[in-house]
Amino acid sequence: MQLTMTLPSSAGMCMLLLVSSLLLWEHAASKPTGVVSTEDLYDRVVEQSHVTYNLAADIYHEFDSNFFKSSWFPKRMPRICHTASIHTPDSRQEVNETKTEDLLKAIVNITNAWEEPLKHLVSAMPSLPKPSDNMLKTTNAVKAKNIVLLEGLKTILNRTQIVYEETDSPVWSGLSELKSADEDTQLFAFYSLVRCLKRDTHKIDTFLKVLRCRVVFNSECLF
Ligand SMILES: *[C@@H]1O[C@H](CO)[C@@H](O)[C@H](O)[C@H]1NC(C)=O
Ligand SMILES: *[C@@H]1O[C@H](CO)[C@@H](O)[C@H](O)[C@H]1NC(C)=O
Ligand SMILES: *[C@@H]1O[C@H](CO)[C@@H](O)[C@H](O)[C@H]1NC(C)=O
Repeated sequence: MQLTMTLPSSAGMCMLLLVSSLLLWEHAASKPTGVVSTEDLYDRVVEQSHVTYNLAADIYHEFDSNFFKSSWFPKRMPRICHTASIHTPDSRQEVNETKTEDLLKAIVNITNAWEEPLKHLVSAMPSLPKPSDNMLKTTNAVKAKNIVLLEGLKTILNRTQIVYEETDSPVWSGLSELKSADEDTQLFAFYSLVRCLKRDTHKIDTFLKVLRCRVVFNSECLF
């Protein structure tokens, strides 16, 4: 199943992408009347999260090599990530002891919490001192994939017995710094955000792989 990587440039395209991603999650194209199996859903969300993490890592590395300043430290402290209040297990052991539904809820919570900051990250990209087309393109792709991933996760949650409530996700509050006229403040805000994005997308990818292993392979798989 091919997921489009095209970057939606208008609201219309964005809706189109959303609608097609919903169809993608709910129905198997090869079986028009069939519903996608939960196993397939896990395969697809893991595919999404894996690509999303790789893209987020690319953004971080490109930012790091072009804009990072060692003079930031120890003067400036990175903000703690806005998603830090969402409790997630820290160790392999703890992950193993966390119930599937709790892990899914945390993943949805984090994914949901990135919708707003990703929009702002995309719109602030062109204001960087040396704007990079590649970084803008990649950030747009992460923003789109985050939405697709969220729909997939909601579909999975909907199949469990738990009632899914629209998540009240932690709010990101770094906008004024991201738009700061002071170049150093702005760059540091970018740095903090792309660093958190890389960490969170990595977390999500790791947890989803654990869940897929648990749900699809009965925990009998190697990482
Ligand atoms: C998401 O995380 C926030 C912050 O920890 C919490 O207040 C909220 O209840 C969580 N939402 C869900 C649905 O778990
Ligand atoms: C994970 O939990 C299962 C039981 O639920 C146990 O059999 C297994 O050994 C645990 N694995 C780790 C790495 O803790
Ligand atoms: C949730 O599942 C029910 C069937 O169990 C389905 O009718 C409904 O459309 C689903 N909702 C979402 C948001 O996927």
